Amino acid sequence: MRHIPIILLGYGNVGRAFVRLVEEKRDRLNQDYGLNLVWTTIFRREGRYDFPPIGESDHPVIEKDGLKFGELKTGRVLNDLKSLLREAPGGVMVDGSVSDQKTGQPGYDYWKKAFSWGWHVVTANKGPLVYDYKGLHNSAHQNRCGLGISGATAAALPTVDLALYALAGADIQSVEGILNGTSNYILTRMGEGVDYAEALSEAQGKGIAEPDPAMDVEGWDTAYKILLITNASTELKYSLNDVSVKGITSISRQEVEKAAREGKRIKLLGRFERTDTGGILEVAPRAVGPDHPLFWVNGTEKGITFETDTMGSISAVGGRSSPVGAAAALLKDLINIVRQHDNKSD
Ligand SMILES: NC(=O)c1ccc[n+]([C@@H]2O[C@H](COP(=O)([O-])OP(=O)(O)OC[C@H]3O[C@@H](n4cnc5c(N)ncnc54)[C@H](OP(=O)(O)O)[C@@H]3O)[C@@H](O)[C@H]2O)c1
Repeated sequence: MRHIPIILLGYGNVGRAFVRLVEEKRDRLNQDYGLNLVWTTIFRREGRYDFPPIGESDHPVIEKDGLKFGELKTGRVLNDLKSLLREAPGGVMVDGSVSDQKTGQPGYDYWKKAFSWGWHVVTANKGPLVYDYKGLHNSAHQNRCGLGISGATAAALPTVDLALYALAGADIQSVEGILNGTSNYILTRMGEGVDYAEALSEAQGKGIAEPDPAMDVEGWDTAYKILLITNASTELKYSLNDVSVKGITSISRQEVEKAAREGKRIKLLGRFERTDTGGILEVAPRAVGPDHPLFWVNGTEKGITFETDTMGSISAVGGRSSPVGAAAALLKDLINIVRQHDNKSD
């Protein structure tokens, strides 16, 4: 049995879903993978909580989600982190913290410390990756650590895994993805005769769209994902400035109806296309016909298609966004990373 220390960064929707999932699957993880995940510490906005609480009899114990942990400790969290990492080498940091693409924080500083002490990182947080994919990828590589980004690249829908494992050895010539469930839901409803404002408000009412939907409907969430998928799946390393981004806010019902009369549907596509000089990265709404593999991806579903030189066109569909889907993607990356690094950390 391998005992894997876990540090959680963030304990919101995704962090909690991850803890619940691991507890639900604890026996399965033990039996099938020989893994025992050991909760160590949660870092949150205000400070850290440790498991198990030290000196339980003297200190108040918080019971939540079936777990017991100690009261909040505030102070110099990054200093605390260093001693935690040093005490328990070979662990995994699980990032479910807030995303900031402009600074990469708070994840960026935590990840750099984790790699320098030989800890792997799996993340649902896109911020540090959009901020400096290349630097973090290199840092993980130099320290022989894993960096699992499935949770940040459409989560339950396999994207990067598909490229790295199933398409290993093939040249990826293009990638096209419906990578944002909110905008796909709105476009699907518009195709059924509902106008944009009504479809958006319906999506907000169902908890599909955020109260502030800008990231999704203006195309930025799709831009982050296609950027990261391209960077992870090819030898090319782009930054956000290289992505041309247009969202769905200016799509009219007339445009959707016109596409429907031609037997097409408008989809918000994130695209990478290889060119003689590198490649093109863009996000834009496009009318696609039934011959397109993503034509049938409706509602909150997502999908991705890779065009390759030797394996033809390969698509995956599904992976509706949810904290559980994100948690499952984190767990998948964790299992695969620990398996790959088995020999090193034994
Ligand atoms: N929700 C989804 O379905 C989903 C799906 C895929 C990816 N994601 C991504 O996963 C991440 C988490 O999403 P969520 O829905 O769980 O968000 P959330 O509920 O808002 O939780 C965010 C967590 O980040 C913590 N945090 C904020 N500042 C911090 C800091 N300086 N240091 C340490 N922790 C800090 C917060 O701490 P406090 O608890 O103290 O406030 C909170 O626990 C986001 O990056 C999101 O984009 C979410």
